[in-house]
Amino acid sequence: MRKVGVAILGLGVVGGGTYRILKSHREFYQKTQGLDLTVESVLEPDKAKLDALGVDPSIVASNIAEVVCNPDVTIIVECIGGDGAARDYVLAALYAGKTVVTSNKLLYAKHSEELERAARQHNAGLQLEASCMGGVPIVRTLLSGLQANIITSMVGIVNGTTNYILTKMTEEGASYEEALENARRLGYAESDPEADVEGYDAVYKLSILSSLAFHTKIPVDKIYREGLSKITKDEISCAGKLGYVLKLVAVGRQSGQGVELRVHPAFVPKEHPLASVGGCFNAIFLRGDSVGETMLYGSGAGALPTGSAMVSDVIYAAKHIDEISSGRKAIADKVKIVTDFQSGFFLRLRLADASDGLSKTTALFARKGISIKKLHRLDGDGKALLLVTEETKESTLHAAIGKLAEGGVAENDLLLRVIS
Ligand code: HSE
Repeated sequence: MRKVGVAILGLGVVGGGTYRILKSHREFYQKTQGLDLTVESVLEPDKAKLDALGVDPSIVASNIAEVVCNPDVTIIVECIGGDGAARDYVLAALYAGKTVVTSNKLLYAKHSEELERAARQHNAGLQLEASCMGGVPIVRTLLSGLQANIITSMVGIVNGTTNYILTKMTEEGASYEEALENARRLGYAESDPEADVEGYDAVYKLSILSSLAFHTKIPVDKIYREGLSKITKDEISCAGKLGYVLKLVAVGRQSGQGVELRVHPAFVPKEHPLASVGGCFNAIFLRGDSVGETMLYGSGAGALPTGSAMVSDVIYAAKHIDEISSGRKAIADKVKIVTDFQSGFFLRLRLADASDGLSKTTALFARKGISIKKLHRLDGDGKALLLVTEETKESTLHAAIGKLAEGGVAENDLLLRVIS
């Protein structure tokens, strides 16, 4: 039986889950994979974390050099996060020719070129399944399950924390603060939860996934980002009234015009498969030219689901130890980024005049070529109008809203994109 030594850097939520799976499933992997995976080294300064997991003190390293120079370690699992120490440690591991398995989306999204280069130069492997969507095997699926396809679009719920918050607010009327606190307690949120609620985490994941899907390099700063911080119960209630649920989505679309990439809150129709993805679950809805529509779904955060992705990568890496880097092939270094998005839109309008405001609004939209899909007049003075458009260019919609205001017909006070 082949013995493969593993080191774990960081025993937080994900590192702890990875450690527990490796320990509890050792015999199972011996039988099913023909591999004896042993934890040979851990780097974790917090004694409480080491004690909570019952880590043998003899395998606790005091610095990264001890880990990378350990001849019994073949695969180094990085669960520290960020691009400070984690970047130095991952590079040190790759320079030493060790295979790295990481859950660090920020690190890979921002520094993939440097990391892939280091891996190639030192014949080291680099695996990143756990960086995107927790336990959902999306990276492997894109690299070796859907590679027959030209992927034209992906729409995903790729952040567990925000999906958990929105689900609790929608289904239980929880407050934003209360829901966020629970997400932190359950180990879904980042150490700085602003990364989740402001959409940065989803941007890192979209950068990685769209780079893989569209065979290019999508820099994080090319992705449009809007977080949840401006969302109130108002938006959630409007969504419900019109037959939608509010979700934080990541969208990547490829067409002859270029690539459109965005992370923002959006109305998702209740009958869309993404609408029923609740709690910390994640899902991604993909379109490929041959496969058509396909969706992957599963736990997007948490110790064991993310640990599942980590250990699956460890097993993959152990069996493909000669495979260099992550196996991604970019065919285009530069890609044209489309910024005038094409989308459906939800608007809340305050009409100046309840009697003719609606007809003036629909006439103006018709002149601009914007089709109205849904209309709902709120109770009260008849001046509050909810409206959903068919897909149109964002610039066209903003021009129409400007004209409504200029002409004293209506003011727009809520605007969100709609997934069709
Ligand atoms: N904070 C992340 C999330 C963890 O909520 O999705 C998994 O990447």
